Amino acid sequence: MQYDPKNSIKIPIDTLTIGMFVTAIEHSERVNLSHAGRVSNNNALKQLISSGVKYAWVDQSLSAKECIFKPVDEGAVPAPATDTLGASTVKPKTQSRYAQQKRASKIIQEAKGLAQKLINQTFEGKVIHVNEIEQWADDVIESVLVDSDALHCVSALRNKDKYLLEHSVNVACLLVSFGKHLGLSKETLKQMAIGGIIHDVGKIKVDDKVLHKPAKLTPEEFEHMKLHQVYAKQIITNVKGLSDVSRDVCLMHHEKLDGSGYPSGLTAQQLPVHGRMSSIVDIYDALTADRCYKRGMSSAEAFKILLSLAGHHLDKDLVYKFINCIGVYPVGSIVELSDGRVGIVWSSNQDEPLKPEVKCFYSRKYKRYVEVSYVDLKHSALKIDKAIAPHNLEIDPTPFFDL
Ligand SMILES: [Fe+2]
Ligand SMILES: [Fe+2]
Repeated sequence: MQYDPKNSIKIPIDTLTIGMFVTAIEHSERVNLSHAGRVSNNNALKQLISSGVKYAWVDQSLSAKECIFKPVDEGAVPAPATDTLGASTVKPKTQSRYAQQKRASKIIQEAKGLAQKLINQTFEGKVIHVNEIEQWADDVIESVLVDSDALHCVSALRNKDKYLLEHSVNVACLLVSFGKHLGLSKETLKQMAIGGIIHDVGKIKVDDKVLHKPAKLTPEEFEHMKLHQVYAKQIITNVKGLSDVSRDVCLMHHEKLDGSGYPSGLTAQQLPVHGRMSSIVDIYDALTADRCYKRGMSSAEAFKILLSLAGHHLDKDLVYKFINCIGVYPVGSIVELSDGRVGIVWSSNQDEPLKPEVKCFYSRKYKRYVEVSYVDLKHSALKIDKAIAPHNLEIDPTPFFDL
């Protein structure tokens, strides 16, 4: 369960009852944050009192509904807090519990908005029903952020750089879409989403100048950037209840099959499927994302790069499956080509699914109809830029479905 000690109120230990969610306990001076959880029986209560605990901080929203709270001095007591990296400290209370909750829900809303943006852009006009995925991503994000400690990381990422949060949410959503395509269990998908959300948390410690550099990094800068995985290792030891899958997704996204990756130089035998998936998805999002200084590549261009890395860096079989998950254009779907022409996918190409034959009839570049022509992408330098949902097309394509 996700909890935030900053949202808690302080109560005398003798008013603690079964069902309350404890986020911290206090001996005479010392605050201990390591035993968070719900009080489930009388023995636990007795043990706390007999071990000299004077006060407990409890999170009302995570406690049983029937609990009655008697705060020591609500609003005035400094609450124990963890900083974004999880180090235990006691800080004066600077924000009310309401403000903290408002901030958490703002971050969740923002993450949901980013997920929807990604899904719309990635799956628009594809076989997958965008609405269904949107709803489902909404649920995953909510449960990932509410039920896990990952919200701390999201908050830290967001403070560091707007793009970091967007990239993290994208990686989480793409991993979940990919995992769903591979038929992985719902629980595994959730663990992967958590891993995706926190995968670049180490970047919060990377120098801003390097992180935001709009050009190629020098070898020294790249070495510094690589440290984000060393920092990640330290940071995630403070994220409670992190599963092995989440941990692997986070720590393996820069590992390569031939052992030339970082931080551990793991080899193919040591890289589980979710670790291999994380590197594919991470590279894909980095290539396709729009940044202030560059326009993202089309998915077709990114697929080409992924394929060039398949075998020695990335798992070839998984790269093909990922392309299938993201990039299949079924017959009858509407696509925009790299020259701005819009057309209907007319016949598929078994060997190269990204290069079907397209019946073109309109130009988005010139905003007018063009002479109907059939473009076989297998024998053309053109490629599909993106799929378009029919309702997002400024003209009615219906007549062009006729032979
Ligand atoms: Fe990374
Ligand atoms: Fe990344």
